Amino acid sequence: MSARLPDIDACVFDAYGTLLDFASAVTRSRAAKLPQAAELVKLWRQKQLEYTWLRSLMNRHADFWRVTGESLDYAMEALGLDDPALRAELMQLYLQLDAYPEAKPVLQKLKAAGKKTAILSNGSVTMLAAGVAAADLRDELDLVLSIDEVSVFKPSPAVYGRATERLGVPASRICFLSSNGWDAHGAQCFGFHTVWVNRNKLPADRLPSPPEIVAGSLQDVPALLGL
Ligand code: LAC
Repeated sequence: MSARLPDIDACVFDAYGTLLDFASAVTRSRAAKLPQAAELVKLWRQKQLEYTWLRSLMNRHADFWRVTGESLDYAMEALGLDDPALRAELMQLYLQLDAYPEAKPVLQKLKAAGKKTAILSNGSVTMLAAGVAAADLRDELDLVLSIDEVSVFKPSPAVYGRATERLGVPASRICFLSSNGWDAHGAQCFGFHTVWVNRNKLPADRLPSPPEIVAGSLQDVPALLGL
């Protein structure tokens, strides 16, 4: 890969879909064997994100745990899954998602090179603490930052701004990495350097401020920083 980022002091990662595989809640549950499994992963995530954007626009914030539960309720009803025990199982598993296999080694490499590492996520403080512990990433992260601190969801500039304050690093020295294209656009629009981790080879979003770099996985990140 020939693309290179300028000098970066901190790498800030989105959590769900970027470090943590949200599909693993379904694939590790009883729902994995259902014919609706793939659609459940997709619809749950789609509604979860829609509800974050809509609540922020409506000025009706609720934390990501509630939004995650409400979007699961919608998806299960839409797919004809009336099963409270399965709902409880899926919510529990959402607290213990698998990390993508390259997440830990890449974070270790960044830290070894003296970069600050952080999560900046819609996830609530409680969800992120559980997720980071379950994925065994605590030692690899300098900061785990939830939008709970600003009570508005991504891609509000208030969210990205909070990361600069908490890290004490200016936006121009931060690289933000997300597998969510819209999140990378939001971060680029705020003033971060950005990498869109396009795991699923999706088309580019038609939004302002396209991400600076498109990578296939987190594996590419150290090279982008010249490491
Ligand atoms: C997050 C969602 C957007 O972790 O994936 O913020």
